[in-house]
Amino acid sequence: MRVTDAFRAAFGGDPRTVWHAPGRVNLIGEHTDYNDGFVLPFAVPWGVTAAVSPRDDSTIRLLSLQSPGDPVVISSHEESRGWTRYVVGVLATLGDRVRGADIAIDGDIPAGAGLSSSAALEVAVASALDDLYDLGMTPMERALLSQRAENDFVGMPCGIMDQAASALSAEGHALFLDCRSLGSRNIPLDLAAHGLSILIIDTRVHHEHAGGEYAKRRAECESAARKLGVAALRDVTDLAGALEQLQGDERKRTMHIVTENHRVEALVGLLRAGAITEIGALLNASHLSLRDQYEVSSPELDLAVEASLRGGARGARMTGGGFGGSAIALVADDRLESVKESVNSAYAERAWQPPRFLPATPASGARRLS
Ligand code: GLA
Repeated sequence: MRVTDAFRAAFGGDPRTVWHAPGRVNLIGEHTDYNDGFVLPFAVPWGVTAAVSPRDDSTIRLLSLQSPGDPVVISSHEESRGWTRYVVGVLATLGDRVRGADIAIDGDIPAGAGLSSSAALEVAVASALDDLYDLGMTPMERALLSQRAENDFVGMPCGIMDQAASALSAEGHALFLDCRSLGSRNIPLDLAAHGLSILIIDTRVHHEHAGGEYAKRRAECESAARKLGVAALRDVTDLAGALEQLQGDERKRTMHIVTENHRVEALVGLLRAGAITEIGALLNASHLSLRDQYEVSSPELDLAVEASLRGGARGARMTGGGFGGSAIALVADDRLESVKESVNSAYAERAWQPPRFLPATPASGARRLS
């Protein structure tokens, strides 16, 4: 393995453990995780591999095959920056349960596509450290630890979806997660049996203000929940009544979250009934709600969705936090080429850089490689 070779060359000796954790796409349930709601992501076939050995002192030596150069040596958590914060954040969050470590990282998640490479990095390192130090954590505990590292150490107020998808997914399945109880179920997503594919359309555009807008949406939802007297928007049962009590953006955000939770449950119901071919309308409705009510889409995402539907996709939506990144389209295999052509020519008409197409096959969650 490339990562173990790099580990040996930089640090001498074999790594004590090697873990792989995948990125994710979200089939449906967007921005619902931090509203105690439902999500349905699945792991993608790309991820992060971490080769790790413990150290006797508190030094952290880090090397990434994606950032060539000498290993970064960190003797205090405050010294970390860039990608190293996700790794150091996990170690810092574990506190005195662990000491220092030598860590080599390799990854193949397409950069900037919004496929959660940071969650994959956190979960790979958290899993390796749990394993090395015999901490006895469950996959969900590893996900929660990773989320805490990202919230408290990196400063991104994300929910639990990405880390849970990376830690808990099963091959050939989507992960239905209740973000309040943290109960989860693997739902079979047998695309091939129905002659279907989920195509990732990476717009290759990422808008800079995404982080600030994410925190703003979260604050609007929390404020709306306070006004409605509920713990979280998940608890709204009378949507019409709730909307009467709210105005402006908070009203729109509430509309999205409440209807999106219903869409997740409906989509899970269709999958469990074997009606995967019928889920397209829910994907489309989710996209319109994210575009018009939650206002986290972008012109590039909207065009990817519209053009893939024109090209014959059964349904399409933006996936992930928004403001760039990727859309997904559910496409019958015999329509794949026409969908790609339709999106490519729509982008070309506007002289936008061509998007990148990736096939999304539901892959397994984090696992030990050696
Ligand atoms: C980002 C966050 C997730 C989730 C999505 C939106 O990916 O990391 O926790 O909130 O956005 O669904």
